[in-house]
Amino acid sequence: MSSLRVLIPAEKIQERVVELAAQIDRDYPTGPVYLVGVLKGACMFIADLARAMKTSVRLEFVVIASYGKGKTSSGEARLIKDLDHPIEGFDVIVIEDIVDTGITLTYLMQILRQRNPKSLRIASLLDKPSRRQRPADVDYLGFEVPDQFLVGYGLDYAEDYRNLRDVCILDG
Ligand code: IMP
Ligand code: MG
Repeated sequence: MSSLRVLIPAEKIQERVVELAAQIDRDYPTGPVYLVGVLKGACMFIADLARAMKTSVRLEFVVIASYGKGKTSSGEARLIKDLDHPIEGFDVIVIEDIVDTGITLTYLMQILRQRNPKSLRIASLLDKPSRRQRPADVDYLGFEVPDQFLVGYGLDYAEDYRNLRDVCILDG
């Protein structure tokens, strides 16, 4: 039997998202800023972050396959859904739920860099630095987390638990 333990309660997440939004607003006083959400995990984070920001944003989404149905990465990343619009000459921030091995981000950043954005940064709600295989520098980080499997606030286990308001540890 698997069980859930709250790691980061919803109120703390919301507080931190507001702080990150203010920081991004300060760094980009004039928009538009393209927020590129990595689906599906970043769906809650990008929605809350965008609404907490004052600088004008444009929302784009990509889908990258990396994880299978289990708890470990397949070690490969593949772009399944691309951006809808060119980002050349624009400020771009990639919005991730969690950086784990860094394989997904390394792959995506390489693709986006080739599109010649004016600037390219990374915002991630969570970071599991102990599992890193490829360097990935997060410019806007919500929380550093231990090496445990997490669900909630967009993160899933085999597509379940994404709608939990808290980030929880899934045991078992
Ligand atoms: P990476 O390529 O190993 O850095 O993994 C990136 C993706 O794996 C994240 O965007 C998540 O969607 C997923 N992932 C990594 N760790 C977890 C976790 O603890 N719970 C749920 N999904 C995770
Ligand atoms: Mg993800």
